Amino acid sequence: MKALVLSGGKGTRLRPITHTSAKQLVPVANKPILFYGLEAIAESGIKDVGIIVGDTKNEIMSAVGDGKKFGIKVTYIPQAAPLGLAHAVKISQDFLKDDEFVMYLGDNLIRDGIKSFVDEFRKKKPNSQILLAKVPNPQQFGVAELKDGKILRLVEKPKQPKSDLALVGVYMFDKNIFEAVNSIKPSWRGELEITDAIQYLVEKKFTVIPHIINGWWKDTGKLEDMLEANRIILDTLKKENLGIVENSTIEGKVVIQKNAEIINSTIRGPVIIGENCKIINSYIGPFTSVYFNTVIENSEIEHSIILENSKVKDVRRIADSLIGQNVEILKSEKKPQAYRIMVGDSSRVEII
Ligand code: TTP
Repeated sequence: MKALVLSGGKGTRLRPITHTSAKQLVPVANKPILFYGLEAIAESGIKDVGIIVGDTKNEIMSAVGDGKKFGIKVTYIPQAAPLGLAHAVKISQDFLKDDEFVMYLGDNLIRDGIKSFVDEFRKKKPNSQILLAKVPNPQQFGVAELKDGKILRLVEKPKQPKSDLALVGVYMFDKNIFEAVNSIKPSWRGELEITDAIQYLVEKKFTVIPHIINGWWKDTGKLEDMLEANRIILDTLKKENLGIVENSTIEGKVVIQKNAEIINSTIRGPVIIGENCKIINSYIGPFTSVYFNTVIENSEIEHSIILENSKVKDVRRIADSLIGQNVEILKSEKKPQAYRIMVGDSSRVEII
C-alpha cells in the first residue's frame, strides 16, 4: 500500500505567508504541519510515499528530504498547476500503479493518526473509504449525505447542507479511482474535484464506505484553524527546559528548546519557545509558539505563532497573530510619531 500526500496548492486563504512559503511547513507547536501527516503515515505501516509539490517544491524537498527521518521513502511528483485534488491523483498514476493508497492533504491534522482507518481499509477491502467528521459549519466543506450507513451523495460546499458530516482530508482508494478521475470534468472553479470523483464511484456502484471519526481534526488552511491546531497540540506537550532561564517565572506547560534564553520574563503555558530564541523583559501568554532564532524583548504576546528569525521589540501586546519569518515589529521613537509599515501583499494588520 502507498500514500499520496498533497503539498502543492495555492494557499490563498493564508496569504501573505503563502506568497513566499509553503503553508504545509508552517509550524504548529514548532513542528511543520506536514510532518504530523508523514509521521501518521509511517505509523500506519506505509513506507512508499509520493508527495505532490507545486511552486514551493524546493522548500518542501529540503524540509522532507528522502523521507528517511520519518522511516519512509519519498517520491516527489510535481504538479504544474493546482488543478484540484483529483488532478493530483490523475498525475500520480505512474507512481501509484495498481496499488491501493491513502491520500492525505498535507495541511490536515488528525489527532488519532490514521492507523485504525488504514487497518479497517485493509481488512474490509472496499474500493474506497472516506473519513467523515461532524462539523458546525458544513457549508465550508465537502459534505456527505448518508442513508442506512451508506453514502448517498457527496456535495462540495453546499449552500443547504443535507448533513453535518464533512469530508476529512484523508481518503483511501484502490485503482478504480483512476477511471473516476479520468471521467469527471472540472468544476465551476476549474478544478478536478475529489468529491466528484468519489461521487462517480458511488454512482457506478463501487463500494465506498464512510468512517466517522470522533477525535478532533483540523484543516489548517485558514489562520483561525492554524491557531486552533496550535492550541490543541501545545496542550498535549510535556513540560521541558533545555534552555537557560534567568530571573523569570515559568508557569504551566512550557517547553523551552535548546539554547533558548528566558531573561526577566514571565512565560505562562502552554507555550513552546524554539531553539536559540531570546525572550527578554517580556510576557509570553498561553497558546503561543515561537519558532527558532526569534527575539522578543520588552513585549507581550499570547495566542500566536511566530516563525523563525523574527524580532518583536517594545510592543505592548500582540494576540491571535501569525507572524512570518524575518519579520520585525518594533516601537519607534522617531518623529513624527506614526505607524511606519512595510507589509507584503495581502497582509492584514489590526492596530489600536
Ligand atoms: P486546499 O487547501 O483545498 O487548496 P489550496 O492549498 O489551494 O488553498 P486555498 O483554498 O487557501 O487557496 O488544498 C488542500 C491540500 O492539497 C493542500 O495541502 C494543498 C494541496 N493541493 C495540491 O497539492 N494540489 C492541488 O491542486 C490542490 C487544489 C491542493
